Amino acid sequence: MSQPISRVDGPLKVTGAATYPAEFSVPNLAQAFAVMSAIARGKITAIDSTAAEKAAGVLAVITHLNAPKLPEPPNAQKTQGIRIEQRIPLVDDVISYGGQYVAVVVAETSEQARYAASLLRISYALQKPALRMEDALKADKPPQQEGQRLQKTKGDLNTALQNPEFVRIEQTYSTPTETHNPMECSATIAVWDTPDRLTIYDATQYVKGVQGIVSHAFGLPRDNVRVICPFVGGAFGCKGPVWPHTILAVMAAKVVNRPVRLELTRHAMFSGTGHRTPTTQKITLAASRDGKLRGIRHHSEMVTSPVGWWVESCGAGSTNVLYDAPAISFDHEVRQVNIAQPSFMRAPGECPGTFALECAMDELAYALKLDPLQLRLVNDSPNHPMKGIPWSAKHLRECYESGAKEFGWSRRNEEPRSMKDGDLLVGWGMATATYPAHAGRADVKIQLNADGTALVKCAAHDLGTGQYTVLTQISADAIGLPVEKVKFVLGDSDLPFGPVAGGSQTTGTVGSGIARAAEDLKKKLSDLGADPARPDSFGQALNRVGMRMLEAEGKFEFKEDEKLAFQSWGAHFCEVRIDADLPMVRVTRWVSVMNCGRVVNPKTGGSQILGGIVMGIGMALEEETHYDPATGLPVTRNLADYHVPVHADINSIQLHFVGEPDYAFNPVGARGMGEIGITGAAAAVANAVFHATGRRVRDLPITPDKLI
Ligand code: MOS
Repeated sequence: MSQPISRVDGPLKVTGAATYPAEFSVPNLAQAFAVMSAIARGKITAIDSTAAEKAAGVLAVITHLNAPKLPEPPNAQKTQGIRIEQRIPLVDDVISYGGQYVAVVVAETSEQARYAASLLRISYALQKPALRMEDALKADKPPQQEGQRLQKTKGDLNTALQNPEFVRIEQTYSTPTETHNPMECSATIAVWDTPDRLTIYDATQYVKGVQGIVSHAFGLPRDNVRVICPFVGGAFGCKGPVWPHTILAVMAAKVVNRPVRLELTRHAMFSGTGHRTPTTQKITLAASRDGKLRGIRHHSEMVTSPVGWWVESCGAGSTNVLYDAPAISFDHEVRQVNIAQPSFMRAPGECPGTFALECAMDELAYALKLDPLQLRLVNDSPNHPMKGIPWSAKHLRECYESGAKEFGWSRRNEEPRSMKDGDLLVGWGMATATYPAHAGRADVKIQLNADGTALVKCAAHDLGTGQYTVLTQISADAIGLPVEKVKFVLGDSDLPFGPVAGGSQTTGTVGSGIARAAEDLKKKLSDLGADPARPDSFGQALNRVGMRMLEAEGKFEFKEDEKLAFQSWGAHFCEVRIDADLPMVRVTRWVSVMNCGRVVNPKTGGSQILGGIVMGIGMALEEETHYDPATGLPVTRNLADYHVPVHADINSIQLHFVGEPDYAFNPVGARGMGEIGITGAAAAVANAVFHATGRRVRDLPITPDKLI
């Protein structure tokens, strides 16, 4: 049942037949261009749209002066959707961040819309923006604190950290703003079918969420809005919430009384769809001479925007779960700057959190004169450090041991700068990976046809992750049919409820819904006198009673377990080679071992982990969004200036899975793979760089200037 089959949607993708939301052909479609503010803080004092309105093909210029008023801001809690930026677009003249939309131009063609947008003359009253964490102290609103999840403490930390018998390290680590940059830019096509019925083609990780938010925003019954998204060209979290452009597309379609397509430019993706907020993390570790951790403190600071609340939960995603100690505390402090709304990006919290904690562990290992791997092994714990309950199926020790063996870790000379290959410095580093087992709700319908095929339906998503394939495999297995006889349908809000494709939860959550629906199907088949163990007889059984099809359904909803904690685990081992004179870091070899419960498809699942590692290498060495310190506008706003790894940056990556299906977690036994690969990856690189050079870089990315 763990078959590495190729993507069932592969032929559609390679032939160009897969239709992405921006590509749907809609009659009479008008094109919109969203205009972004040129300042980060202030007010619009005037907009002269005369020239723009007269330009060829222009149908409308919508600004805060003439935008239709929406009802109350949609409340995400009430509407079953995600909205991080709370501001309603074009609601007033206030500018809170650079790149905030100030107008939408609608025209016959996208070129005409874009050209007309350049003719708009917008005047501003400029206020000095707060752009850095340091300046944010003076922001209008005091820092807020959020709930128990983000501030936890146990034991007597001060005593532990002051014990003279213990070895102590205390360091501050920082990560920059990073932007998602999926291949497909966000896009919405909005079609008002009637004055109160709407169809939206939207690049989203959550069709039911878009349905909820948009129906609420425009005062429509939920079922009057249909959201369609059969394919997503990558997302990494940036397509989970409903962002302003989706609301604007629907608004524009109302104004011009025609279907409207609004596709973001790559430039707009740097302010319009979230990013990973920068973090500063101070970590204090104390350990006894045997390496056992006695105290851990993890204080994280980050920024949010003036128009929404976001906490990058670094401590909650790392120190909360990774190592046990008698005294632990973590907390998060959030400030507000005039930069666009941050949001979730692949392993939000866990990713920067594990960078800091796993670098600190490396520093502690050197302070203790212990092998960094040995330090991890000494501190591997069977229990959740803060909850004190056992992990359901933790195989982290196997990850460490088999990864170390495959990598050849025992041949490592611990001394920094001791390993060389000709003129190149060689460094070996390792780090722990970890990501929570998240789960939600999924309703699944199975339609068994008299020709012996099955159609399985859920409003789930395939972000390019392989979910079409994986959910087809789980369905085929649960029903008992070969994969070729099963078709999985997703990406349409008319389908039964599916959760946001976030938190690495789709396989486990939707897969469990499939398992429940298959149980219902088997029961109905037995009631018909069929043998549920003989799938080749299903068609006959239906034909015998004159049914063209049989429908079954299943619902899954995860319930918190008070006796067990669920989490995925892994270990990264990384080799870097660095020219001592021109210190560009090259990652030359990588071994990862992962424990994620059941691996439904080692090929697509493996690709998720590999992709996470590649993104982690980008985080370690390349990725950083810069803002102009004068204007607050992003200056790295295309893929030439914002660097992500290309093929030439990536060498051998070996990956294995260990462990067994985690049936205590859910009926499929799968804990998800979308995010864990990136956790710990940047720390493994930074630790290898230290080993190669003797230079500890605590501030990502590790660019050559930091090693000279
Ligand atoms: Mo992912 S950052 O959980 O959408």
